[in-house]
Amino acid sequence: MNILLIGSGGREHALAYALTKSPLCERLFSAPGNPGTAAFGQNRPDLDVADHAAVQAFCAQNTIGLVVIGPEVPLVAGLVDDLAAAGIRAFGPTKAAAQLEGSKGFTKDLCAAYGIPTAAFARFTNRDAALAYLAERGAPIVVKADGLAAGKGVVVAETLDQAEAAVRAMLTEPGAEIVIEECLFGEEASFFALCDGTRAVPIGTAQDHKRVFDGDRGPNTGGMGAYSPATILTPALERAVMETIIAPTLAGMRARGTPFTGILYAGLMLTVDGPKLIEYNTRFGDPEAQVLMPRLAGDLLPALIAACDGNVSGVDLPFDESRAALTVVMAAAGYPGAVMRGSVIRGVDAADASDDVIVFQAGTRIENGQLLADGGRVLTVTALGASMMEAQARAYTAIARIDWPEGFCRRDIGRRAVAREVAGGGI
Ligand code: AMP
Ligand code: GLY
Repeated sequence: MNILLIGSGGREHALAYALTKSPLCERLFSAPGNPGTAAFGQNRPDLDVADHAAVQAFCAQNTIGLVVIGPEVPLVAGLVDDLAAAGIRAFGPTKAAAQLEGSKGFTKDLCAAYGIPTAAFARFTNRDAALAYLAERGAPIVVKADGLAAGKGVVVAETLDQAEAAVRAMLTEPGAEIVIEECLFGEEASFFALCDGTRAVPIGTAQDHKRVFDGDRGPNTGGMGAYSPATILTPALERAVMETIIAPTLAGMRARGTPFTGILYAGLMLTVDGPKLIEYNTRFGDPEAQVLMPRLAGDLLPALIAACDGNVSGVDLPFDESRAALTVVMAAAGYPGAVMRGSVIRGVDAADASDDVIVFQAGTRIENGQLLADGGRVLTVTALGASMMEAQARAYTAIARIDWPEGFCRRDIGRRAVAREVAGGGI
């Protein structure tokens, strides 16, 4: 089967790595792709993925049996709907179902309607009403832009001043909408479920590091590093997440006539009152895919096809439970703000050749045979180990082989997991 993979991040490099392991995979095309995905197939930067008719034509010409969509933007734009209308199998939710990620207000309303545990909230379009609500609730409090914001549309305000500033900044344009919600406390974890519209099977856990600087300081980013498994999610907690969060979400979406197919990625806060939903993403995480894919011990491709074809009940997607994976993002100086492109990166091949290390590429390009930085998040350096401590050590040893003065990374990815491991013994 020929596959078209949409996207150009580290997640797509990791998906290309996993999909091409399948004996079912004949040719892989990536649009636009990056230098990492080029190693697994053909990159097609000429294909404009926002032009759905062009994607349909490409699929027909290249006998594509499955389109795998990495990022959220094409999902929210309805690429799956347009491909399905042309009889092309595409993995991911429809435009209506992708609202679980595309609109925070939509998800909060669904939670309220189906009793899904989440932070108490209110939705606003009016600034004065929002400011009045803040004054009534006090700080700490969380202010969120309604639409997609690449992980950067959320302000966890410690003071009322910060919250008010966030409201003023987000409610400038007419039609803008925000959600204001209760600040939850606890540890965060990510839970992934493969869904066929009716059923869900759990497909792994991870923890992300959203803040840009060590010690979880600085602004939120798309993610600066991750590890898997998230051992804090015990089997009992995983069952609770499936029962109280994932299952009612699928039931609710089905009842509304917008069944959810694809990856449901639940961002959770593990509070003293149990797991609560912070947000949904409707796709694999980036950089979480870079720790999930290397731990997969089964074939991803038939599992994705089963979800598209409406029956995941037979899917068995085992992970190598004896291995921990940890990934460290290397970003360009200035990220998550404006970055400079074009700096030279050396040593990636040496890092990639380290035992149990894979360097997934994100914002890179090759020019005159040199690897150049070409985005905010540029590389994700993943390592596997028999323990989280071993994976962490391998990842940072590999990073030391990368010579890129204009880049930076967090130095504390996995700190909590390693501390837990030392305290408890084992992954
Ligand atoms: P989101 O884009 O909704 O996942 O939010 C980004 C990050 O903001 C989350 O990963 C949390 O660290 C933080 N956050 C979001 N909502 C809350 C909340 N209600 N309470 C505390 N932290 C939150
Ligand atoms: N790492 C967070 C995300 O993929 O949204």
